[in-house]
Amino acid sequence: MRVLMVGDVVGKPGRQLTLELVPRLTAEYAVDFVIVNGENAAGGVGITPDIADVMLQGGIDVVTLGNHAWGKREIFPYLDEEPRLLRPANYPPGVPGQGYGIYSCAAGLVGVVSLQGRTFMDPVDDPFRAIDRILETLRRKTAVICVDFHGEATSEKQAFAWYVDGRVSVVAGTHTHIQTADERILTEGTAYLTDLGMTGPIDSVIGMRCDIVIPRFTSLLPARFEVADGEAQLCAALIDIDDISGHATAIRRVQVPGHVVNRSYS
Ligand SMILES: [Fe+2]
Ligand SMILES: [Fe+2]
Repeated sequence: MRVLMVGDVVGKPGRQLTLELVPRLTAEYAVDFVIVNGENAAGGVGITPDIADVMLQGGIDVVTLGNHAWGKREIFPYLDEEPRLLRPANYPPGVPGQGYGIYSCAAGLVGVVSLQGRTFMDPVDDPFRAIDRILETLRRKTAVICVDFHGEATSEKQAFAWYVDGRVSVVAGTHTHIQTADERILTEGTAYLTDLGMTGPIDSVIGMRCDIVIPRFTSLLPARFEVADGEAQLCAALIDIDDISGHATAIRRVQVPGHVVNRSYS
């Protein structure tokens, strides 16, 4: 089974490029299942029901989120209704939505888990203990399990990947918006990439306008970020998984430049 995992989609430039490229990549690389991180899809922060609908109708099987899951309040009831939209599983009990699920595609059943790190981030519940609980459920149904680990620290992501090595098919990091070059298959068969990178405007600071972000560093005054314009790029990874063992057989990084997108963002 071949899975495409796409890094954080930022604003309209990221959405447009994702909707254009996902069907093309799916056909070109015979992809069976597509997972996209959409935590920055709506104006750079959060996701709305309309945007989630368009993504899920556009060839994406599951949309994962992260610390910005809660950026748009209108998504709260949607999270409870739509199992293909996942927020991180390790939030306190009772928050809207779910953090993992099992989905079927032509190649078989796929488990998907969204988790959030705790290092240099808000102190969510323990993602290590959370995955142990989740795997008790998922591994009864399928060996193919894909984890989006949404975290800031490379060390936490690596430690998590080794912790679940051989128990999940792939751990792909999100959140930093910068793709790392460390893709590999760990010793027990889990494919790993510290960060998938961002799908959004290239001439930017992690997707946001440089002329707004730079003064925030130089003046320390608060500023409202805006999604940048210009050419966008899709960052992703292709993972080949043996659907019987659940172990990965290959992982390849993907970076596809897009077109210049006109300004008028939402
Ligand atoms: Fe993000
Ligand atoms: Fe994030």
